[in-house]
Amino acid sequence: MSCRAVIFDLDGVLTDTAIYHFYAWKALADKLGIAFDEHDNEQLKGVDRLGSLRWILQKGGVSLSSADESRLMQQKNAHYLQLIDHITPDNLYPGVQPLFTALRQSGIKIGLASASKNAAFVVERLGIAAQFDYIADANKVINSKPDPEVFLLAAKGLGVAPPHCIGVEDAQAGIEAINRAGMKAIAIGDAAVLNGALKIYPDVAAITLTDLLNV
Ligand code: BG6
Ligand code: MG
Repeated sequence: MSCRAVIFDLDGVLTDTAIYHFYAWKALADKLGIAFDEHDNEQLKGVDRLGSLRWILQKGGVSLSSADESRLMQQKNAHYLQLIDHITPDNLYPGVQPLFTALRQSGIKIGLASASKNAAFVVERLGIAAQFDYIADANKVINSKPDPEVFLLAAKGLGVAPPHCIGVEDAQAGIEAINRAGMKAIAIGDAAVLNGALKIYPDVAAITLTDLLNV
């Protein structure tokens, strides 16, 4: 296949925000008296805010009204925004900028497919917003990863057919979403935890343009 676009996830792929989502969910779970650890959090990577809250509530055998769910989601998000308040271009993972530059020089489009409603803010703070050819708006996505919707929205916005797109993800739900979108999946993380990707790398810095052209 000839690669015409690379569509990146944000949290945990381009920057270290995945850990702050975990801290904020962990604080909320602690307050609710629900056990929640990093192993549980693997299930929540890539999952949207409501889906994540419901996963935690279900683990604790708790069911709430939608008004209470909204209140807890607001609390979590306020805490998350406080935790990422310090973010600057220094928080961009090493290797992202050289890879973006190489993609641009090769005429390969760059997209973003994050489940986060804070994604536009985060990429702005990282100083890379203008480098995306298209950013899928999570506010317009109904079905969270592992549904392919956000990746398909990104491909449409880029004007590139899914078979010519590569998706890059750190979440199991995200890898599944890429595969279900009919794209090629590349994973960032631990091969013992993540399945279903064509290639797996420890971090973005390990990915070369040649790798992407040969997927
Ligand atoms: C994903 C993260 O990118 O975005 C999840 O992996 C997070 O951990 C989800 O819950 C939704 O983010 P937000 O910022 O809209 O609450
Ligand atoms: Mg992620």
